Amino acid sequence: MRIAIPKECRPHERRVAVSPDVVKKYVALGFDVVVEAGAGNAAHMVDAMFSEAGAHIASDASMALKDADIVLKVQRPLTEEEGKGEIALLKKGAVLVANLAALNYPQETSAYAEAGLTAFAMELMPRISRAQSMDVLSSQSNLAGYKAVIDAAALFTRAMPMMMTAAGTIPPARVLIVGAGVAGLQAIATAKRLGAIVHAFDVRSAVKEQVESLGAKFVVVDETAMQSAETASGYAREMDEYYKKKQVHAIHEQLKKTDIAITTALIPGKAAPVLITEEMVRDMKPGSVIMDLAVESGGNCVLSEYGRVVLRYDVNIVGPANFASTVAHDASVLFAKNIYNFIHPMLDKTSRSLQIPWDDELVKGTCVCHAGRIVHPMLRSGEE
Ligand code: NAI
Repeated sequence: MRIAIPKECRPHERRVAVSPDVVKKYVALGFDVVVEAGAGNAAHMVDAMFSEAGAHIASDASMALKDADIVLKVQRPLTEEEGKGEIALLKKGAVLVANLAALNYPQETSAYAEAGLTAFAMELMPRISRAQSMDVLSSQSNLAGYKAVIDAAALFTRAMPMMMTAAGTIPPARVLIVGAGVAGLQAIATAKRLGAIVHAFDVRSAVKEQVESLGAKFVVVDETAMQSAETASGYAREMDEYYKKKQVHAIHEQLKKTDIAITTALIPGKAAPVLITEEMVRDMKPGSVIMDLAVESGGNCVLSEYGRVVLRYDVNIVGPANFASTVAHDASVLFAKNIYNFIHPMLDKTSRSLQIPWDDELVKGTCVCHAGRIVHPMLRSGEE
């Protein structure tokens, strides 16, 4: 049985879905591993490292994917309309495991079904304890949260920690984190380590304790509304107009005192909530920085632009494209391990085949299509 890892070809993508360590593990289980030449270059994992680990190096994507039974990718395959048409390179019956953004691109899921693929969307991994080691959203968001603070500090023309020098005292930077999920919590921890004063907002009440345990101050908008802000799967709901108004006011007041705002607020399957208006940006201090990590879902700040740094009202507003990819090495190592942790219990060493436990909660939660049919309930009926 052959496992193939092609080179990622979406713009801004530097990660790869396997690491040399993980190649060794697949090979030890008796599987053939084929890596496309140059697949790991941008993450500083060169072909020689993969071949030393036991992989074959294929000269191009079609050679890598030809005859592959399992295809591991970071991002969803390119479609014909996007220029390269990766789906057509996969053989009928192949298993595709990747971050498919399946809820955002349901028509592409239909294309996988039509191509006869069995596709697993890693971003739909149920957020239960057993699946923590397979959770690509967490592993990648964690790095993105860290990098957001580092990049913001680099753009900021002042220091982060308080410094008492012979020439005078520099006050600590004030950082505001909007959305304290995985990325936001790591951003809090990183900003605290750099010596900043950190405040954070979130709609879910469960977050308050986590924020405070990291030494940041949690800004409460409406205690009652927060009690019902979390879905059964642990995500945020879209809030009502009353809450939104109160939150806009609270964020506005907080931003006037903020030097660096890092926004990570997301609602699964929906556009990101707009939480920072133009008026709020105008009222920020000159030289402030906004890192809008939600820009790929429309942005938490109205002025952020995908993949660009824009200077408005003397505030640098960053809309990073594929942030985890800027920490490509570590992001790839963790992503590769997440996928391995998911599929290795299905790899049968004796028969050297993939045995999919169809009743398993994790399989049901991630499999989007099989045997020519869309099988995921969220894609079949659009339910939560
Ligand atoms: P996410 O990326 O979907 O959203 C980021 C944050 O934005 C969330 O904390 C959300 O509450 C917040 N948010 C949404 N709308 C907002 C608004 N209008 N204002 C302010 N904040 C807003 O969330 P993420 O980081 O993926 O985590 C979601 C949940 O999953 C959390 O409860 C987390 O603890 C849980 N989780 C569970 C895991 C497990 O048990 N395997 C692993 C990782 C996360």
